[in-house]
Amino acid sequence: MKMRTIGSLAVLAGFSLSLAASAQDLPDPSKVIDTFEKLGGVNKGLRRNHAKGSCAVGSFVASADAKKLSSSTLFSGKDVPVIARFSVAGPAPQIPDTARAPHGLGLQFKLPKDELQQTAMLNVPIFPVSTVQGFYDSLLINLPDPATGKPDPAKAQAFAAAHPEAKPFFEYMGSHNASATYTNATYRSLSAYKFINGKTETWVRWRFEPAGGEKFLTDAEAATPHDFLDKDLTDGLRKAPAKWTMIAIIGEPAKGDSIKDPSAPWPAGRKEVKLGTLTLTKGGQDATGTCEDINYDPNVAAAGIEPSSEDQILQYRSSAYAESYTRRESEKQ
Ligand code: HEM
Repeated sequence: MKMRTIGSLAVLAGFSLSLAASAQDLPDPSKVIDTFEKLGGVNKGLRRNHAKGSCAVGSFVASADAKKLSSSTLFSGKDVPVIARFSVAGPAPQIPDTARAPHGLGLQFKLPKDELQQTAMLNVPIFPVSTVQGFYDSLLINLPDPATGKPDPAKAQAFAAAHPEAKPFFEYMGSHNASATYTNATYRSLSAYKFINGKTETWVRWRFEPAGGEKFLTDAEAATPHDFLDKDLTDGLRKAPAKWTMIAIIGEPAKGDSIKDPSAPWPAGRKEVKLGTLTLTKGGQDATGTCEDINYDPNVAAAGIEPSSEDQILQYRSSAYAESYTRRESEKQ
């Protein structure tokens, strides 16, 4: 394994990952959260992963095509209020914005009749691992070895050898600096969801594509660790709203598109449908607190959209996020 790949494993530990066996074999969520705490500290009141972040508010308006795929009221075409949270993956809130860590976007859509639709996405094209155990292992290899006080590189090498599915992720992280702003990034669900409209069922993955295009830090900008994301978000939204187009990639499970594994890419060229426009109008220091007490559990979905029940990682995230949420909220009392 190359040094760069080992470096990327530290980034991976800061964020998320994979699955496969039966429910009773899955790691205990409290142990996973304990491990995040060992890696990033117990930061009272903060998320145990994606600890650093900024809130934003705005709305979503669906396209007419979206309604054909799903009967969800998310796609009514009316203005749907949204509370967003941008984040930097990792358990430590001190991580510099220049770090090559994935960025996250959580969205909570407030639908009629007190229904909610949620998503928590990453700005990477693929998830690194295919199992929850793999994700847990990616955290464990970053714990310091008692003998040296540092992570053992041999464990990182063994992890990479055991997880060839992670190679595209490492290659992506190795070839991209951090996003230059929260608003110039494409965020992806990675996992698959079933859209339902009457008897019609369609498997999709979605992405939010920024109207301003994708921008990454230059090597010179990334050279000195510093923070800029929250200020850029605050100032940028004071000047003009930021917009993303929500796009569905139409899966073809009969041709092998995985609805179980967010580390398995779907082939290029699949049909895509524009689902609508997300507009954020206020954020950062102007939206402080609006998203802090939200648990962006990606399995919270309104009628018409179903998270894949076969995706172990997606399903497991509910229990891990609940454990983190319970700990951070209890610390505020
Ligand atoms: C087994 C795999 C995973 C585990 C154990 C895990 C764990 C966590 C935990 C504990 C949190 C903090 C939750 C909170 O306190 O509210 C979190 C946040 C987050 N995760 Fe994951 N995660 C996993 C996979 C993923 C995947 C596949 C994605 C995206 C495709 C993702 C995206 C995010 C985002 C965007 C946040 C921040 C949400 C917010 O701002 O509140 N995670 N994750």
